[in-house]
Amino acid sequence: MRKIAILGFKGGIGKTTTCVNLGAALALRGHRVLLIDTDTQANLSISLGITDYKKSLSDVLVRKAKVEECIIPARKNVDLLPSSLALFKVQQRMVLEMAREEVFEEIFSGLNDYDYQLLDCAPSLSLLTINSIVYVDEVFIPVSMEMLAMAGAEQFIGYLQNISRTLGRAATIRLVIPTMYDPRRRVSKQVMKLLKDLGPRVTRPIRDDTQLSEAPGQGKTIFEYAPRSRGAVDYARLTETVAEMSLLTSTNGKSSRLPLQKNDSQ
Ligand SMILES: Nc1ncnc2c1ncn2[C@@H]1O[C@H](COP(=O)(O)OP(=O)(O)O)[C@@H](O)[C@H]1O
Ligand SMILES: [Mg+2]
Repeated sequence: MRKIAILGFKGGIGKTTTCVNLGAALALRGHRVLLIDTDTQANLSISLGITDYKKSLSDVLVRKAKVEECIIPARKNVDLLPSSLALFKVQQRMVLEMAREEVFEEIFSGLNDYDYQLLDCAPSLSLLTINSIVYVDEVFIPVSMEMLAMAGAEQFIGYLQNISRTLGRAATIRLVIPTMYDPRRRVSKQVMKLLKDLGPRVTRPIRDDTQLSEAPGQGKTIFEYAPRSRGAVDYARLTETVAEMSLLTSTNGKSSRLPLQKNDSQ
């Protein structure tokens, strides 16, 4: 099983869009996928058109529910562990009462029935984000084609290195995913050029596509909403790249977790 967090310091850079559509495309290829929403804005469930649910990640964190009770079948081969606004309060309690970075490892440890777990994360330095970084093996960083998004990605990579040093371990940044790429805009080309110097592998860009921004409003993935769109083509190609990447070998408990690597050309 591969555990991947879609992470970045900025909002609006395509984290949720990538999580939904990468997950959907992996499922279409026959993989079993669990999408985990760790963002208090609960955008994953909205994007998938799932609004009628009672239990969410926050109930698991306060031990009101078992994780299995909160998982919703979202599509063929796709399950969802949704978030809710309540997660915001729970997170504050987590900081005060348990301040621990291994809670996700404890509550998700039994969820082995998947080929992929994808975590959608908030654009903040919260305890939930740190839990995500500690729990997963791989991190993908979407970067939209703006200089400030580029700066955010740089800060984030530095931050991950610090965490790695502090905790003695952290996930590997395996992919930087350029998003909202528009070849007519000079800044798109400038950011693409700068991304190459960041260190981690940079994928081919996800192009700017209005249909990608319309699909969540209909509660649909891009493959349901506009299967012939640029967005569908680009996310299918990204998925191929992800599926072809080799598995990181980390299974024997914490000490075997790989340290953060800036250069991973696999
Ligand atoms: N490639 C793209 N082209 C056009 N719009 C996009 C693209 N990727 C994402 N969007 C839109 O941009 C907004 C922010 O994307 P989102 O995935 O929610 O970012 P994040 O989760 O990082 O905050 C959303 O309205 C989304 O639909
Ligand atoms: Mg989001």
